Amino acid sequence: MERTLIIFKPDAVQRGLCGQILTRFENKGLQIVGLKFMTIARQTAETHYAPHKGKGFYEGLVKFMTSSPVAVVALQGKNAIAIARKMMGATFGSNAEPGTIRGDFGVSNSFNLIHGSDSVEAAAKELKLFFRDDELVDWTPTIQAWIYDMAKGTPE
Ligand code: RTP
Ligand code: MG
Repeated sequence: MERTLIIFKPDAVQRGLCGQILTRFENKGLQIVGLKFMTIARQTAETHYAPHKGKGFYEGLVKFMTSSPVAVVALQGKNAIAIARKMMGATFGSNAEPGTIRGDFGVSNSFNLIHGSDSVEAAAKELKLFFRDDELVDWTPTIQAWIYDMAKGTPE
């Protein structure tokens, strides 16, 4: 099982879309293992988007991410990182496919509602940045055996 960090960005919170977006992930079968509401500190936003430091959009991105509250969610599932990225769609709503979160909820070339970790390494780093160990909960949904085929003992 993999874990990924999802951030409902300030535009998703301000537009009241967190519930609808989270529902998509829950419907898919991804499991919530961490969830909190916060305003991101500047230092945290800088660390989170450090791979983009030096790019033209970096300063605006850090300002945007710290401008208003966000919800951060840790999701768990088999291939959760790639599945969540696919559900999010291309970076901006203007060209994201219909059916994806960014494709269905946004048109902007700057605001894009949601962040999702893009690799196992990034997910590990980002989860550590936003959650203490004791804020991530190990639990098994009672419905697990109907979400995955567990006949061989591992989720398929
Ligand atoms: P994210 O990291 O937020 O999940 O988004 P992403 O992987 O789809 O896109 P990435 O290339 O990692 O860019 C990070 C965030 O920077 C902003 N951005 N602005 N103006 C621009 O050209 C530009 N490019 C990227 C977006 O907010 C993007 O989500
Ligand atoms: Mg990214």
